[in-house]
Amino acid sequence: MRIYDIIKAKRDGLELSSEEISHFVRGAASGAIPDYQLTALLMAIFLRGMSERETADLTLAIAGSGTCIDLQMPKAVDKHSTGGVGDTTTLVVAPLVAACGVPVAKMTGRGLGHTGGTVDKLESIPGFSTLLSMEQFSHQVKEIGLALISATTELAPADKTLYALRDVTATVDSIPLIASSIMGKKIAAGATHIVLDVKYGAGAFMKSPQQAEELAKAMVDIGRRVGRPTVALLTSMEEPLGNCIGNSLEVEEAISVLSGYGGSPALIEVCRAVALEMLKMYFPELGDPAAKLRIDDALSSGQAFKKFKELVAAQGGTLERGLPEAKITTAIKALQTGYVTRIDPLKLGNVAISLGAGRLRKEDKLDYTAGLRLYARINDYVQAGQTIVIAHSDKPLSSELKEAITSAFELGELNPQPKPNILRIIK
Ligand code: URA
Ligand code: CA
Repeated sequence: MRIYDIIKAKRDGLELSSEEISHFVRGAASGAIPDYQLTALLMAIFLRGMSERETADLTLAIAGSGTCIDLQMPKAVDKHSTGGVGDTTTLVVAPLVAACGVPVAKMTGRGLGHTGGTVDKLESIPGFSTLLSMEQFSHQVKEIGLALISATTELAPADKTLYALRDVTATVDSIPLIASSIMGKKIAAGATHIVLDVKYGAGAFMKSPQQAEELAKAMVDIGRRVGRPTVALLTSMEEPLGNCIGNSLEVEEAISVLSGYGGSPALIEVCRAVALEMLKMYFPELGDPAAKLRIDDALSSGQAFKKFKELVAAQGGTLERGLPEAKITTAIKALQTGYVTRIDPLKLGNVAISLGAGRLRKEDKLDYTAGLRLYARINDYVQAGQTIVIAHSDKPLSSELKEAITSAFELGELNPQPKPNILRIIK
């Protein structure tokens, strides 16, 4: 089999066989196929697309390009978000569903671009380690029903190679390439059932609900074809999901939601919806009302927060002395009176990164305490001079960053039509 013929076939719009796809992915992982041929094929796939069958084959080839984790559980339900700003969902949902009896053995990542990563957030808890051996990982899931670790480098190595090439050759935003990349990693990490939180809007990878729906459908279809039932929620990233952006601030918000005394209503709604789908996948005999009741009960009884504390203790962390706090807080005030009509999540995510909540380069060190806390959301009525954001930082806030925060908010005279946080659920 020659890679030249595979490139030519895809260039001419032909469907690739499973063997051809597997030859390409093996060559990407091993380095046997040079970058120029890999990128030529990626561009041909970008332009010609892939059939559902080809996309499913590509997913399985990516999953099989490295270690596939066997979690030794009859069912392992995983959730994945396509990424957003103030997206604290995993920190809430993982202990919440674990408290409802769904075991969670989850591999998770660091921040990428303007979006945060669960590993960074967890590491803002003093002492918390996400580096467990596979034995510790399975042992902890058996003991407390919940473990969160950073993804190993052996997982889906072909994806690492292909993603790095796509990033620099304008071939990232192709539905079959994104769908197989995400699903391949979930399958390699041992998921038998998958709940996807596919985001659309200004702060998301997919800007329109239509694009997000197309991606969601592609992933649900892959799941069906490869025998890993998958459900996708289409959720809004038109404004930050939670009220907090930044690592320890987001942990604090997750704790408020888990203990029932606060948190952004949008974050709470999305967390409950994701948890509901996970519960129904794990306990198919449970109807909607019973599953919802179990979720309510885990939150109101304190069991969900208790599970979070068990997780922190099991992974070496402590909440006893509280979370680290920033040296400096700066209040940002509304410049005029009116309804908040728009909040630019990208701008706020980038401000948080500049403050030290995320990395501009891989080797950058994080300031876990840095970030933003929002005091106004879309549709809120604010008075001129009212605090809309408090910035947390270790240096005085520059006038550029102040200006960026203020300009992320648009105020108007009319109350905008409320938009749903969850648009649709695709099964
Ligand atoms: N996230 C991924 O993991 N892969 C993609 O291709 C795009 C987003
Ligand atoms: Ca991703």
